[in-house]
Amino acid sequence: MDNIGIHTARDAGHHAANPGLQGVVAATTRLSSVDGEAGELIIAGYPVGEFAPRARFEETLHLLWYGALPNSAQLKALGDALAERRELPAITLTVLRDAAGARIPPMDLLRMAAGTLSGGEDQEAALTLVAQLPAVVAASWRLLRGEEPIPPRRDLAHAANYLWMLDGTEPDARRTRALETYLNTVVDHGLNASTFTARVIASTGSDMVSAILGAIGALKGPLHGGAPGPALDMVFEIGTPDRIEPVLRSKLESGERLMGFGHRIYRVRDPRAEVLGREADRLFAGAENRSLYLLAKEVELAAVRLLAEYKPGRNLQTNVEFYTALLLHGLDLPVQLFTPTFTLGRVGGWCAHCFEQRTVKRIIRPESSYRGPIDRVWSPLEGR
Ligand code: ACO
Repeated sequence: MDNIGIHTARDAGHHAANPGLQGVVAATTRLSSVDGEAGELIIAGYPVGEFAPRARFEETLHLLWYGALPNSAQLKALGDALAERRELPAITLTVLRDAAGARIPPMDLLRMAAGTLSGGEDQEAALTLVAQLPAVVAASWRLLRGEEPIPPRRDLAHAANYLWMLDGTEPDARRTRALETYLNTVVDHGLNASTFTARVIASTGSDMVSAILGAIGALKGPLHGGAPGPALDMVFEIGTPDRIEPVLRSKLESGERLMGFGHRIYRVRDPRAEVLGREADRLFAGAENRSLYLLAKEVELAAVRLLAEYKPGRNLQTNVEFYTALLLHGLDLPVQLFTPTFTLGRVGGWCAHCFEQRTVKRIIRPESSYRGPIDRVWSPLEGR
């Protein structure tokens, strides 16, 4: 067996490995800036709270891809370009039908179907990916439930089309706004794992579809995009205001983590939680289940207070997942579609990063520090 732990002469003079690449700056970007100490997220110059609750998702795409908000002619052109590409190719639908028949979960269906989308040059591929991924997610969900996919509508914009394709109900302005705010809020977030993955693949000269496929694989991991469901489970488990304190205390005393709190980078409240919390307030205004929003707010306040008590000095605050879960639930999205829906926002950022990476003209190729033996002698098969 290999003696993996051996340190050898080859390591002499090598730098120590930095497995999480923490503190390593691997790209310059004009797309977003994350300041964890100040609790600040800037997207292409705009604080996230300034533009996310106002912009249509098409405006956000224009901002990230072309550097400025569009005028009305540019917005129409981008909207038309997406509308022309929204219909899924036959091969994608065939793959989805077969895979949904095998009960493959939605995020895996998205990964499989994304690979069937047609590539081409970067601009064309980016438009196709952004236009078609919502149709893929909506069709997957319907096929998994034994229903036929609903075709997109030319008269609906991007966010509204997604909600339409999910259940065939035309969303009102409040629901559309809530989804746009969510997609805008999560569109980009520095050099996170999936964005880095996309940039690594783009740096090899590979095509845009491959870069986005890799990014989807990275986003799927529970340490990255796969966590919003449990934050909602916790609120449901608590159920009523009188149970908040005892349930949270018992979780903390048994060493459990409170889902939706804490962040590697943010030491203050995640600015995205602020934006999504306000949007959830609007979405749940007058809603039958407004009490769920009010309960979640109370859970948040108590959780932050108890985390300070049980984990003093750690600065554990609300993260993006807490209100993501509530907002997406308020849009009637099932938990299984939370991470796929996150993908539909982040894909705009991934494509923008690929455009940027293309201008670098240098492959991303770090080094590893070899920690194995160096003087082994070949032994023939029969002698092993
Ligand atoms: N609940 C209870 N304790 C916590 C929590 C939490 N949510 N988060 C951190 N802690 C505690 C840890 O137990 C640890 O305590 P200790 O030093 O006494 O052992 C201390 O705070 C530091 O924890 P780390 O894991 O080192 O902190 P890190 O910054 O690396 O963790 C993470 C970040 C993984 C998000 C963590 O806060 C967590 O697990 N949160 C809950 C899960 C969650 O909400 N995930 C979504 C994050 S948002 C996103 O990734 C997009």
